[in-house]
Amino acid sequence: MPNQGSVRHPPVRRARRPGEGANLELPFGSAAGPDTAAALVPEHATLALLRPAAACCRACHLWELGTQTVFGEGQPGAKLMLVGEQPGDMEDRQGRPFVGPAGRLLDQALEEIGLDRREVYITNVVKHFKWTPRGTRRLHVTPTAPEITACRPWLDAEVAVVRPEVIVCLGATAAQALIDRSFRVTVSRGELLPSPLARLVMATVHPSSLLRTPDEEQRQEGIRRFTADLAKAAAAVRGEGSSPAREARSGDANQ
Ligand code: URA
Repeated sequence: MPNQGSVRHPPVRRARRPGEGANLELPFGSAAGPDTAAALVPEHATLALLRPAAACCRACHLWELGTQTVFGEGQPGAKLMLVGEQPGDMEDRQGRPFVGPAGRLLDQALEEIGLDRREVYITNVVKHFKWTPRGTRRLHVTPTAPEITACRPWLDAEVAVVRPEVIVCLGATAAQALIDRSFRVTVSRGELLPSPLARLVMATVHPSSLLRTPDEEQRQEGIRRFTADLAKAAAAVRGEGSSPAREARSGDANQ
């Protein structure tokens, strides 16, 4: 979705080069200041209010590392919400979620199941890019629990405004933040689970993990399963497919 024209963004800073400006030695989440973004979330929030508020977020140290806050994209009322981990290098530069290589794979999968990206709400658990320098590149670093906690009010606010029917967690970070700390994507991917956040929540693999699969045949199989998981979530939005209760019963029968 294009950036909403009526929302004014702060000027986009040039992306920092490795070693420039950002203090990579800072112990994330331990500095003075608010532990979470809760106090920054506007009352009676709309996406148009949340976006500029999140742009000023300094609830953890990641604002110093990233170029800008990468807020979610989509319409309130979108029935399907996709939640990734954190923006990557391209997302950080463009200020939009899932616009890099993982985003292209996601777009292809959505297209294959007949969904336009503009029909879904796409966001991340953490809204700033956390990275470490490697030569001239900025390498992704997994966010810590305090960073995820600090950012969580933004995601909760997005969920409250969008009110999705089904949320799909892309990868373990999102699944462990939204479903259960001990959730294992390898064990429970594709299961539709009731949740306080939405009628159903599901987790699948992160598209980046598919891009990292070196074996072509395995990668294609991974993409096929990923697409099937998204199709199952889309069917659940339409009220088709198995209910969680039915899944639980068929699981019992298989034991
Ligand atoms: N990976 C994510 O988890 N989110 C993005 O926006 C891009 C890559």
